[in-house]
Amino acid sequence: MKITAKNVDAKLTATPCLAVLAHEGEPLALPDGVALPATATADFKGTFRQYRWVDPTGGAAERVLLVGLGKATDADAERLRRAGALVAKGVESLGLKSATLAVSEAVCDAAGGAEAAGEAVAEGAIMGAYRFTAHKTDAKKPKLASMAMAGPGAPFKKGVTRGTGLAEANCFTRDLQNHPGNVVTPTRLAADAKKLATGCAEITCTVHDEAAMKRMKMGALLGVSAGSRQPAKLIHLVYKPKKKKNGAKKIAIVGKGLTFDAGGISLKPGAKMDEMRYDMSGGAAVLGLFHALRSVGCDHEVHGVVPASENLPDGLATKPGDIHTAMNGTTIEVLNTDAEGRLILADALCYTTTKIKPETIIDMATLTGAVIVALGHELTGMFPTSDDLKERLAAAGEAVGERVWPLPLLDCHKEQMKGQSADLRNINSPAHGNGSTSGAAFLSHFVGDTEWCHLDIAGTAWNSLDRDYVGGAQGSGVGVRLLMEFLRRR
Ligand code: BES
Ligand code: MN
Ligand code: ZN
Repeated sequence: MKITAKNVDAKLTATPCLAVLAHEGEPLALPDGVALPATATADFKGTFRQYRWVDPTGGAAERVLLVGLGKATDADAERLRRAGALVAKGVESLGLKSATLAVSEAVCDAAGGAEAAGEAVAEGAIMGAYRFTAHKTDAKKPKLASMAMAGPGAPFKKGVTRGTGLAEANCFTRDLQNHPGNVVTPTRLAADAKKLATGCAEITCTVHDEAAMKRMKMGALLGVSAGSRQPAKLIHLVYKPKKKKNGAKKIAIVGKGLTFDAGGISLKPGAKMDEMRYDMSGGAAVLGLFHALRSVGCDHEVHGVVPASENLPDGLATKPGDIHTAMNGTTIEVLNTDAEGRLILADALCYTTTKIKPETIIDMATLTGAVIVALGHELTGMFPTSDDLKERLAAAGEAVGERVWPLPLLDCHKEQMKGQSADLRNINSPAHGNGSTSGAAFLSHFVGDTEWCHLDIAGTAWNSLDRDYVGGAQGSGVGVRLLMEFLRRR
């Protein structure tokens, strides 16, 4: 869908549908000439998510769609995002080709200004229109081809442009998550990463193959990949802004790119195993982040590192009890081959600290089922090493509707990961509990003293609650908008 922006005061040109957002108890702000029958304004209260189709009695719109935002005092970007999504879905349901969405100055003011409002409605419309039909042979092309966002002035337009870039990146990530494991392999992830760098002066991409991993002594990553015939890849994307600004930071984002997790020799049970195609969601979010950096940009030097591998059982697969040596020389007893994410991340984190040397590392990984028990599908678990990082991530998450919640990581937890025959073991004792923390504790042994935050997105990357623009048993694209907001505020 193509999104354009225009001034809300400009004369309304003919449109199959004019959508108008309104607060509860506030008068409707209708463009010049548009007149509605009394029944419509009587029915429409403006409560949050209420919508009412109207046949106007005058003006340049064939139809009008009124969408409620709730009370002005409850206004925020999230409500605008959801309203944008409801409009896109409503217009699509009638099979209309185009629509105009009018956002009044009052609606913008209540939600934090015209720029924030433009961003939110554009995001909501694009994400709300998302459908994954790549493998349906009878899929009809979406009819809704374009939407014009009409709001107050240049800041609104700027917001619409940014929101469009962010939402398209989110959908790009969702596609990667939703594709099955036989389509999105480590090789495919690497090829897509390379494409993000082509024709873009700010982005470069290097892909390390298994021979290079051997040279770098990445025994943990190679140990996971040993059970698969698909070769592992280590993807390294770099974004360098054209103009280096004062105070610009070097930030590395590491994403788990496990394109299918069968558990390895510690095989998972069959039920819902198909969903383990989303075990590359952290890596997909890193690629999506670069998709967004390509169109929207940021002031910092950003590195994206994605260890990509499958985790399958095979004659050459790692067996429980096998010992592998990570890039930094640490030996690891693999007591459970299903705790593989931390193994591929161990080498990716060693690579990041030694080759990139960033000021801050954030990793995103579908690391533990336990985080779903602890936090469900609406909150990403975070393990920050500093209060500053914790607050910045929490604020960014709040702003974009991808909330993060702190979980503990103490020295006693790091101690739990000491091995019997090797330096570390990849799981703690079942008697310890603290499943998500133990994953973070394992990773902590590979980041040195770099400022770092581990984000466990196992719950939020898939199956999030229905929020009109995201939700259900499919990828959510979590992480892309969160980190873009984190980078913008940094
Ligand atoms: N990819 C899984 C974690 C996961 C589970 C993600 C459910 C999404 C939904 C991870 O590799 C895994 O298998 N973790 C194990 C760790 C255990 C063996 C210590 C788990 O959570 O059971
Ligand atoms: Mn696993
Ligand atoms: Zn996994």
